[in-house]
Amino acid sequence: MTTPSLASEYTSLDPLQVRIDTHRRFSEITDDVNQVVAEALRLGGGEYLVDIGCGTGEFLAHLMHHGHQGPLAGIDTSPAAVAAAAQVPGVDGFRGAAEDLPLADSVCDVLTARHMLYHLTDPMRALREFRRVTKPGGTVCVVVNHPRTCQRTHDLVAGIAEQYELTAPAGMINEDVNSDTVPDMMTEVFGNAAVHRMDNALIFPTPEPAIRFAESLFSFCGIASDHPQYTRIRADVEAKLGGWFHDNPGQTWRDPKGYTVTTAIRPAPSETLP
Ligand SMILES: C[S@@+](CC[C@H](N)C(=O)[O-])C[C@H]1O[C@@H](n2cnc3c(N)ncnc32)[C@H](O)[C@@H]1O
Repeated sequence: MTTPSLASEYTSLDPLQVRIDTHRRFSEITDDVNQVVAEALRLGGGEYLVDIGCGTGEFLAHLMHHGHQGPLAGIDTSPAAVAAAAQVPGVDGFRGAAEDLPLADSVCDVLTARHMLYHLTDPMRALREFRRVTKPGGTVCVVVNHPRTCQRTHDLVAGIAEQYELTAPAGMINEDVNSDTVPDMMTEVFGNAAVHRMDNALIFPTPEPAIRFAESLFSFCGIASDHPQYTRIRADVEAKLGGWFHDNPGQTWRDPKGYTVTTAIRPAPSETLP
C-alpha cells in the first residue's frame, strides 16, 4: 500500500477529469473557468502563451478551438499531463516544475497557472519564476480556490478516512495559498495585481454525482487507490451520502466553493518593486 502524493494523484488524469466535469455540470451558477480566464487576459490571439500545471490541457484546447494563432505550450510535472497537452493540435508539451521552469528569460507574452499554485510548498519561488520567463509588459495569471472550497464533501471523505486511520498526506495542498493570500503574493512579486472573484457552490440533486466527486478527493484525504480496504471505504462514502439524501428527501447536497483569477503585468526590469 502506498501513501498518496502529488505524483501519484496525477499519474492518471481521471480523478482530475471527474472534478473538472463535476464543476462544469453541477455548479449552482453556470460558470466556464476557461472563458473567465480568457476574458481576464484580453488576448489578441497572437501571443505566445505558456500554461503551467496544464493538467488535461483543456485551457490550451479551449484557446485553440477559439482561434488562437500564437504559439501555445503546456508545462507540467506529470508525464500524463505533458502527453495530454501535446495531443492538442498546435500545442507543445514540456515536462518541468513551476519552481524551476525549463524556459529562458522573458520568452512568453502570457503565462497562466490555474489551480496549481496551492500544490507548491514554495509558491513565491514559482511566482518569481513566472516573472522571470514573462516578457516585460506581459501578463501572468494565477487561479486559486477560496479557502474551504468544497469543504463539506472533503470533510465527509476525511471523516471516513480517519476511521481507517488515514489522514491528509503532507505536501499535497498548501493551505496558505488561496484567494485570500494570492493577490498580496502577486503584488509583492509584480508590484501590481487585478482580481476577479467567483463565488459559487456545487449542488448535487442526486447521490451518484456527489459520490463520484467524493471519490475524486480520496487521495487528498490519504486514501490510496491501492489501499486494501478501498472498496469498503468507497462503500462507506456511498452509504453516508446515500443516507443523507434518504434522510433529506427533495433536498440538494450543497457545497460552497469559489476561485479568484489574479492577473499581474510583468514590470520592466528597470522598475523597482515596492
Ligand atoms: C488541479 S490540476 C490543474 C490542471 C489545470 N491547470 C486545470 O486548470 O484544469 C494541478 C496540475 O498541476 C500540476 N503540478 C503540480 N505541481 C506542479 C509543479 N511543481 N510544477 C508544474 N506542475 C505541477 C499537476 O501535475 C496537475 O496537472
